[in-house]
Amino acid sequence: MKSVAVLPGDGIGPEVVSAALSVLDRLDLPLLLRFGDIGWECWKQEGNPVPERTWRLLEETDTCLLGAVTSKPLREAEVELAGRLRGQGLEFISPVVQLRQRLRLFANIRPVTDLKHGRFNFVVIRENTEGLYAGLDFHGIQDPLWKEVRDHPNAAESGPASTSVTLRLQTSTGMDRILRFGFEYARRHGYSSLTVADKPNVLRQSGNHLRERLERVGADYPDIGAEILNVDAVALWMVRRPERFGVIVAENMFGDILSDLGAGVMGGLGLAPSGNVGDHGSYFEPVHGSAPGMAGQGRANPVATLLTVALLLDHLELAVPARQLRDAVHAVVLRRTAVTYDLGGNASTSQAAESVADQLSSIQAVKG
Ligand code: NAI
Ligand code: MG
Repeated sequence: MKSVAVLPGDGIGPEVVSAALSVLDRLDLPLLLRFGDIGWECWKQEGNPVPERTWRLLEETDTCLLGAVTSKPLREAEVELAGRLRGQGLEFISPVVQLRQRLRLFANIRPVTDLKHGRFNFVVIRENTEGLYAGLDFHGIQDPLWKEVRDHPNAAESGPASTSVTLRLQTSTGMDRILRFGFEYARRHGYSSLTVADKPNVLRQSGNHLRERLERVGADYPDIGAEILNVDAVALWMVRRPERFGVIVAENMFGDILSDLGAGVMGGLGLAPSGNVGDHGSYFEPVHGSAPGMAGQGRANPVATLLTVALLLDHLELAVPARQLRDAVHAVVLRRTAVTYDLGGNASTSQAAESVADQLSSIQAVKG
């Protein structure tokens, strides 16, 4: 039996997770759900938003469903700490950043589907560990880096103390891994094309390095058409011709931006699912955050979390129930009679989920 760590987290997290689990229950799958703690309460009471017992739970389970977590700026984080924990130099590190780093989750998956008309269905896969977010970010430049920078006229005028530099790290290790992941994902999900979004005509050396790796890795996947496009063109076409894309792979920052654009193309945060996957771990979460202003009102759209559960089921190689769940969500969104406010309806979180569960039962009755 597969096991799933369930971390509802903060704000609307517990509401959308509980709604999604009530639907998952209808699928009657051999899954063991084990609940755990994460988020702002853990930070306030224990000085760590991801307690050790939660890391143990993640080690003992096959994957994880996360609701949402609240993050606040440093000063507010310190103020809200329990009195006995203040002044100890405890530092708030975003739980999702901790998960990605400690579990080495190198791929961020963001499916972008047209729930209303079925006109497009692509996925943005973002490299999570290197690129422009590798952490090689300097303000005040010393030798030997200054030697590389000082001939730029703006740097020459500002001087080393008033210059900052961010290095884009592109390694064969990181690029091969994300490209192979992208090709495998394409094969497994029936996509015939893989687009790498980069900027080869400006970032010539690293862009050419990426092209070489794409050619090498792509040789193992002759059935998938591969291309490199400028990231700005990809952004334009995601909006104008989203149906042209299958799998889109991008380095960390380009992927960060394109994947949020994907949530917009899809129709908003209430709909967009995501997954983070590595060689030895994974977690799945809706793209949206904890939306504290909406928490406790039962108004949050559960669709993003339902599609996240479908992604998680795919990952556990439960492709058939994953498809049934997606079909049920699509049918409910299309019918529009039981959808939440953000889709123009007035259903509550649990009513919307119930309607997906009913739809699921009728899909299963037909297919069963
Ligand atoms: P947010 O995604 O929580 O909410 C932004 C707005 O989007 C909401 O006010 C609401 O209008 C709408 N929205 C979000 N989820 C929705 C849903 N399920 N149904 C309907 N409408 C929905 O982003 P915000 O306000 O910037 O951040 C709030 C907190 O969440 C912060 O503490 C932030 O750090 C955290 N956050 C956590 C993330 C995570 O858990 N991975 C991701 C993004 C933000
Ligand atoms: Mg983002």
